[in-house]
Amino acid sequence: MLFLHLGYWNTVTSKDLQKATYNFTTLIGQGAFGPVYKAQMSTGETVAVKVLATDSKQGEKEFQTEVMLLGRLHHRNLVNLVGYCAERNKHMLIYVFMTRGSLASHLYNENLEPLNWENRVQVALDVSRGLEYLHDGAVPPVIHRDIKSSNILLDQSMRARVADFGLSREEMVNKHASNIRGTFGYLDPEYISTRSFTKKSDVYSYGVLLFELIAGRNPLQGLMEYVELAAMNTEGKVGWEEIVDPRLDGKFDVQELNEVASLAYKCVNRIPRKRPSMRDIVQVLSRILKSRHDRKHQKDSSNTRADEVSINMDQLENRSPILEHRRVESVDSTTDSVDV
Ligand SMILES: Nc1ncnc2c1ncn2[C@@H]1O[C@H](COP(=O)(O)OP(=O)(O)O)[C@@H](O)[C@H]1O
Ligand SMILES: [Mg+2]
Repeated sequence: MLFLHLGYWNTVTSKDLQKATYNFTTLIGQGAFGPVYKAQMSTGETVAVKVLATDSKQGEKEFQTEVMLLGRLHHRNLVNLVGYCAERNKHMLIYVFMTRGSLASHLYNENLEPLNWENRVQVALDVSRGLEYLHDGAVPPVIHRDIKSSNILLDQSMRARVADFGLSREEMVNKHASNIRGTFGYLDPEYISTRSFTKKSDVYSYGVLLFELIAGRNPLQGLMEYVELAAMNTEGKVGWEEIVDPRLDGKFDVQELNEVASLAYKCVNRIPRKRPSMRDIVQVLSRILKSRHDRKHQKDSSNTRADEVSINMDQLENRSPILEHRRVESVDSTTDSVDV
């Protein structure tokens, strides 16, 4: 077993891994490729281990080549691969552990607090940044091929990362598979007819995901039929309120909602070249979040002025640098926004 950590190769034995998963009893999920376990490494790190049920004919060398490629992809919006294990008939991938689990669980699990509107837009931006990196930052570019809410994972502060990139590549799973791959309802109809998967097919799936964030329903629950019906009234632009997730309890910004929904509508255009690129999407969402931030800051500063009247000058001097500091911190995620 090799462990990729901060660019160094450290060896970890499979025995260590067995121990870290309490003999593979810490199951956290079951996916199409096999089970996923939580593992507590002796170094103190918590990781997720995905056991791939692979074709026994698959070459270890080939698997390793693929993994080395994936291990080079690093971005704050990707669930980075930190190691792997290639033993006969058993291939395992080790990832950063995401404490809050999948976006799907937060949208559909009744026992979890529903995601608020602000979180949903932030998740949309985080995911678009991860995909933009895969499409335009990675060399060679990577097409995800399986964007869906269970492949978006959340950290402690509800920031999102894209999981399972590169995993849908034929070589990783089954060399001989020639069937259509991906997940029903997220698949670009153009891919289904031409069998060629492009970056714009990822954009289509991303558009479905955006609608899922808005409506709180998934493709298996008739999401896209619902969207098409609504689109007849909205002409793709305004009036998307009718599809909004009831779990939001009416708490959302109407303008933001219409902006995000019309962006989503562009992503699911039947004609691939009419869909925006991930870079365009990042720009639109950054601008939405930036103008929200600016509005909030305006509101905050007028509120501050109102209550400053009743405090003395000493307090005021101590206060302003803190306020300023907080503002700078929270603007961090929107600093690279570009107006389009
Ligand atoms: N790195 C991770 N950290 C935390 N949970 C994870 C991680 N990877 C996967 N999971 C959990 O395991 C589940 C199954 O993952 P996966 O095998 O990718 O199947 P799917 O994406 O079809 O749900 C995910 O939905 C998620 O809840
Ligand atoms: Mg997955």
